[in-house]
Amino acid sequence: MENIQIKLPIFKETSLKEPAKRESTLHSLSINYALIPTLNKFGYMLEKPDVISEEFIEYATLTGGTVLDIGTAYGATTISALKKGAYVIANDLDERHLAILQEKTPFELRERLFICKGKFPSAVDIQSSSLTAVLASGVLHYLEGKELKEAFLKVYDILKPGGKFFFFTSTPYIKFFEGFFDTYLKRKAEKAEWPGLIDNSWVYAPNHTNILPKLINLLDMDVTTQLFKESGFLIEKINYVSMEGYPLEFHSNGKEYIGVVAQKPL
Ligand SMILES: C[S@@+](CC[C@H](N)C(=O)[O-])C[C@H]1O[C@@H](n2cnc3c(N)ncnc32)[C@H](O)[C@@H]1O
Repeated sequence: MENIQIKLPIFKETSLKEPAKRESTLHSLSINYALIPTLNKFGYMLEKPDVISEEFIEYATLTGGTVLDIGTAYGATTISALKKGAYVIANDLDERHLAILQEKTPFELRERLFICKGKFPSAVDIQSSSLTAVLASGVLHYLEGKELKEAFLKVYDILKPGGKFFFFTSTPYIKFFEGFFDTYLKRKAEKAEWPGLIDNSWVYAPNHTNILPKLINLLDMDVTTQLFKESGFLIEKINYVSMEGYPLEFHSNGKEYIGVVAQKPL
């Protein structure tokens, strides 16, 4: 294990409240995978890691270096990576999520788990050029434009040259926000910098006020590509991802998510 410096907050013992039971997380009968609600209204953790998180798990294991999972929630991806032998810094802004993750991590894997509570990027301090991989799945679209750009620059900074950034995000095509789509198209035509920025999500998703924050920055292909290029990354692949198998409010035309794997140049 390399000596990575992370400023860890003092971790208070919290009651290890379990996430809501599976039955109450299912929003459709015809789905294969559950969504576990977060405790702080930041959406759901995917019970089954998405395709990009799966690639992160494989890569994290191969490199042998330390990796970071931003916005891990209860750590489905982090625990899978630990089980395969990775050294993982698990980050989240909610310590209740991290307490559950710690509790759920098998005892023998805990020496490779490093807990990092704090909002990314502003409250997370990790040594430059120290990580072999970073994952941000279903998390950075909760940041407005300036913070989002700072987050990408920070990921670039903390990765080693050759390290990889695995990114997975909702797009304006997600069915949750179909009522916003015309606004998105209008802003797109006006060449707005952040055409998918919603600061009143509850207007468009009134049935989800208990699970979504007000600000959501849905990212399309152009905006996502630009973010990676501006920050200095080389994009290895970038694709739309369908949320088939998940509840219907996520579906649209197969473009509801974007997945990216990018590299910090050597
Ligand atoms: C929608 S869940 C995603 C969980 C998991 N990554 C997944 O893909 O299933 C978002 C998680 O990110 C956390 N979060 C939101 N904004 C964050 C930020 N700026 N920094 C760190 N964690 C954040 C929330 O507390 C929540 O646990």
